[in-house]
Amino acid sequence: METLGSRTLDSIKSDFPIFRNRPYLAYLDAAATSQIPSMVLESMVDFEVNFRANVHRGLYPEAELATQAYESARTQVAKFIEAEPSTVSFTSGSTSSLQMLAELLANRLSPGDNILVSSMEHHSALLPFRRIAAERGAMLTTIPHDADYRLDLPTFKLMLNSRVKIVVITAASNVLGTVNPITEIVAEAHKHGAIVIVDAAQYVAHLPLSVKEWGADAVVFSAHKMYGPFGVGVLYLQSSLGQSLTPTALGGGMMTEVTSSITTFAEAPWKFESGTPNIAGVIGLAAAIHYLTALGWPNIVQREEELARLALVGLLSLNDIKIIGPLTMHDRLGVISFTVPGLHPHDLATLLGEQNVAIRAGHHCAMPLTSSIVASGVARASLGLYTTEEDIARLIQGIKAARAKLS
Ligand SMILES: Cc1ncc(COP(=O)(O)O)c(C=O)c1O
Repeated sequence: METLGSRTLDSIKSDFPIFRNRPYLAYLDAAATSQIPSMVLESMVDFEVNFRANVHRGLYPEAELATQAYESARTQVAKFIEAEPSTVSFTSGSTSSLQMLAELLANRLSPGDNILVSSMEHHSALLPFRRIAAERGAMLTTIPHDADYRLDLPTFKLMLNSRVKIVVITAASNVLGTVNPITEIVAEAHKHGAIVIVDAAQYVAHLPLSVKEWGADAVVFSAHKMYGPFGVGVLYLQSSLGQSLTPTALGGGMMTEVTSSITTFAEAPWKFESGTPNIAGVIGLAAAIHYLTALGWPNIVQREEELARLALVGLLSLNDIKIIGPLTMHDRLGVISFTVPGLHPHDLATLLGEQNVAIRAGHHCAMPLTSSIVASGVARASLGLYTTEEDIARLIQGIKAARAKLS
């Protein structure tokens, strides 16, 4: 029987209600969003039905319970990424965290400065920084990847100099599956005084994340890609950077005093959380972290590596399929993009969908990267905790059937 640590895979799969309701579904689209286990849903319903109240405001018991649950979630997120709670702010997702970061850092740029972004960045990481570069008369330069779809580290090192103020780097590519050497990248960038922003949206559910080990200045991720709910994300800001930044999103809950002319901001992290947050979502994120942690990182990493290997070998066994990503296992995730000659990725995804195999096709919000590889984009299968050998066999079989149908 297939297992993950002390649990059987059947029992893990049954934690996710969607597979009870749709047992025929081979869900291979975790990189777009993961499925959600019952215990995460139950934690959010518990808040909504038993102590729904706004946080940091009321003095009655339910409001105090809500604030306690919200702040305890912050402590759990901090522990999960080896950070201090004061460095963890809640946002509505990676996109809003990155947008906020760009706004917070814009005034650090002068004309002629440079922002380095990797060739693998998601539009959410690229576009806000492209905009602040244009607004401030700064440059934005792309760090290339090499022929094996890894970041070109020698070129990155050459590109660094004192005019580079910000480096934006994804911890794991949502197209290539490549895992970037963040600790090394941060160390190199810091030698030149640059601020390093790490997009961990794809990384966080698949490998243990330690901001202490990375040494990054800012890290972002979304709950919905790590078995949590939609509409909640994290912005980690290294302590002294967080203290030094002036919030750009203003409103309730983020100041300590407002007079007719003066506003005194709260401390980090609250000064970055204006307005009513997604309280149920934050509680759900903490439950998702509890779920992941209980399964155990070594078990998760080993299982997902086995599955990724199986998927790669299966795909390569089909004639002339091209894998768009590294073929080594130590620096990649189970986010596997590929092209099938003669088959448009959208047609492939539609034909697989008819067989209840869910993959994604197209440009994956990383158009500069995908269109430089193949104009029509790529097909992508991405794996999660609930993925089974059978799901992968159905993917391979489904591609054969799609090819037979269109040939
Ligand atoms: C690498 C990466 N960064 C950022 C995002 C944006 O995340 P969200 O849509 O949750 O804001 C995604 C989503 O696919 C992603 O894959």
